[in-house]
Amino acid sequence: MAPVSDPCSFSSFSKCLTRHINLSLRVDFEARALKGKTELTVEVLEDKFSVLTLDTKDLKIFKVSANGQAAKFEVGAQHGYKGSPLEITLPFELSRGQHVIVEIEYETSPSASALQWLSPAQTAGKQHPYLFSQCQATHCRTMLPCQDTPSVKHSYYAQVSVPKELIALMSAVRDGQEPDPTDSSRVIYRFRQPVPMPSYLIALVVGALESREIGPRSRVWSEKEFVDQAAFEFSETETMLKTAESLAGPYVWGQYDVLVLPPSFPYGGMENPCLTFATPTLLAGDRSLSNVIAHEISHSWTGNLVTNKTWEHFWLNEGHTVYLERMIGRALEGEQFRQFKARGGWKELQEAVHQFGANNTVTNLVQNLSEADPDESFSCVPYEKGFALLYHLEELLGGPEVFMGFLKSYIQMFAYSSVTTEEWKDYLFTYFKDKVDILKKVDWSGWMHTPGMPPFKPQYDSILADTCISLAQRWHKAKDADLSGFSEADIKQLSSHQLIEFLALLLLEDPLPKSHVKRMQEVYDFNSVKNSEIRFRWLRLCVKSQWEEAVPLALKMATEQGRMKFTRPLFKEVYNFAKFHDEAVKTFKEHRDAMHPVTAALLSKDLKVDQSTVF
Ligand code: BES
Ligand code: ZN
Repeated sequence: MAPVSDPCSFSSFSKCLTRHINLSLRVDFEARALKGKTELTVEVLEDKFSVLTLDTKDLKIFKVSANGQAAKFEVGAQHGYKGSPLEITLPFELSRGQHVIVEIEYETSPSASALQWLSPAQTAGKQHPYLFSQCQATHCRTMLPCQDTPSVKHSYYAQVSVPKELIALMSAVRDGQEPDPTDSSRVIYRFRQPVPMPSYLIALVVGALESREIGPRSRVWSEKEFVDQAAFEFSETETMLKTAESLAGPYVWGQYDVLVLPPSFPYGGMENPCLTFATPTLLAGDRSLSNVIAHEISHSWTGNLVTNKTWEHFWLNEGHTVYLERMIGRALEGEQFRQFKARGGWKELQEAVHQFGANNTVTNLVQNLSEADPDESFSCVPYEKGFALLYHLEELLGGPEVFMGFLKSYIQMFAYSSVTTEEWKDYLFTYFKDKVDILKKVDWSGWMHTPGMPPFKPQYDSILADTCISLAQRWHKAKDADLSGFSEADIKQLSSHQLIEFLALLLLEDPLPKSHVKRMQEVYDFNSVKNSEIRFRWLRLCVKSQWEEAVPLALKMATEQGRMKFTRPLFKEVYNFAKFHDEAVKTFKEHRDAMHPVTAALLSKDLKVDQSTVF
């Protein structure tokens, strides 16, 4: 097979592969730095091998050795978001098949983009500092020198020294703790991850954490203020795991825990092995946002076991994961619910294509990232165009059971490795060798390499969506004189999923007149709704309608939590409301220092504010 290169990485993975990482770190909250060493066990793939290139960003490298002998090294110039190559010259030559242990003593920067350091004031408990990491897609290199590409997989072991009031957790199985022999105010936590995984799944959290058991292989972790709520919200975890296993095969990671992070966590969920990271905005109080957990559970197969070879094939991770997430939804709530969610996903894709423009290549399923930072091209396209393609194939090839047969077999075939879109497609043709005529009729280049909406629109059943559609149409068409006809009863029978869909449909249309959103508040009182997905769409709708009173509420939501899916559109909406343009910028500048580094960087681009954190 032709070697694939990763445009987001400097590392020489066609010449050598990291097989194991041994980390030994001290978490220094005063200096806001991780200090210690990384030991990489590297397998050599060519003869006369003596130069190894790793990815780093904002790291201070003190010393490098190879099999215990000092090695020369050079940190290259910084290339924007990619960071700097670390070129290590071994004091000896190696041949194909040999291994070398490379040890690097280093320290991270306080502005490392993988890490957010929270002061005690920024935590729920207010007593202790807190640290969490987020490495996907290309931030692991700010935490440790490594081959920071999803094409390389390794196991890892780690020991982490932290102040003894705090607990450390990683994306691994907990392997005990002991007092730090060098410092009586500290404890060392140990972790082992025996399953080979890509660097972007290395994760660390340190804080005043508590936990509750929620299943035979699951606990929830968070500051004590949220732990009971979290245990309630995520109580379906074991049922979802069992459902996923029945669909996709055995769960190989042992433990499946969920960590609820502080509100600045930039994503809904992150599939860190053994320990999903989740935003507290999932705590709706009624388990209605638990599909995010189904999604992260699904990544245990698609993403973590079978991984996209480079970020250009990110849709393989997310498209298949959304497909599995919706199959779990189907098993728990029924086919109508899956159809409803699939239909909603298609609408989201329409919105994204409309926003980016139908000729914008970020709307391609397969991306070209030679010049682009994956954080900047992040969107729902790989999720929803990917899902739509898989659903289209499902329909062509014989329905959900038949297509799950393929997916399970694909997972088995490529488990523990990384794949490209071509390899996926080749396997699809191999698995369905009797249906190649059907597969040949698919407009592959239209689906994969063409911007805009897909070449084929699946027909989703609209039973659960119909009430949302007709209510949204009523509001859309209403004249001022019709507003008295709306009442609380309109939404009495709607689930929170349907309320989300109702608001999403209105957001696809031209803004409602201000009189309409004011009336909507009178009859439905959405201002008092806490469910983050409803509140987010409601506040966007109000700001779009230029209802001034909604602006402070929108900015409050945008800053009280930092999930980028909510925070970025809320800020942008206020920014586009001419009268409040400056207010949006001012609010951002006031909160920037307390924000997650990636959120702050992307928001400064969105709001065209000079970047203080350059990365
Ligand atoms: N792996 C992603 C989050 C991610 C993607 C982080 C790219 C960094 C770079 C995660 O699995 C995800 O997709 N989360 C979604 C959940 C949703 C699709 C159910 C989210 O955060 O909202
Ligand atoms: Zn995902």
